[in-house]
Amino acid sequence: MNEKPLYEGSFAVIGGNFDHAGEVSSSIKAILKQMGLSSDIVRKVSLVAYESEINIVSYAKKGMIRLRVVVDSVMIEAIDEGQGIPDITLAMQPGYSTATDKIREMGFGAGMGLCNIKSFSDIFQINSEVGKGTYLKMIIKTNGCS
Ligand SMILES: Nc1ncnc2c1ncn2[C@@H]1O[C@H](COP(=O)(O)OP(=O)(O)O)[C@@H](O)[C@H]1O
Ligand SMILES: [Mg+2]
Repeated sequence: MNEKPLYEGSFAVIGGNFDHAGEVSSSIKAILKQMGLSSDIVRKVSLVAYESEINIVSYAKKGMIRLRVVVDSVMIEAIDEGQGIPDITLAMQPGYSTATDKIREMGFGAGMGLCNIKSFSDIFQINSEVGKGTYLKMIIKTNGCS
């Protein structure tokens, strides 16, 4: 639908910046709560934004997360410039991870991010080009009354 968004914004994410990893998804969570969306929707969108953010920090040089809220859905897009994903089917498998020891030491790299993003989203799209970057689009439907 091309209706006017209730909220639209984009947030920069810097690759390798683990000290601030999670801040964008926290901001998104706060915005959605403030807008009065149900806790179920806030939880789903926050998870999707968080996993996307951690992946940009872990595997890309830089990127951004876009949030667009319309009456009946919330859209998250994660766009990065980075190494890209050579085999998307493999990357989507639960437990598959190329995380380095450094990333694992910080508690990331369980290999559940992309598959959880997919299962929490009503619509999920992923495109990636090796050496260029990765694009994710997630839509979570709301009941339209929030
Ligand atoms: N934005 C990205 N850029 C490049 N590679 C990525 C990106 N997101 C995910 N990947 C690849 O997909 C794999 C699986 O991602 P994910 O399911 O989030 O698990 P994890 O991040 O714990 O490894 C990663 O280990 C990485 O190889
Ligand atoms: Mg991940």
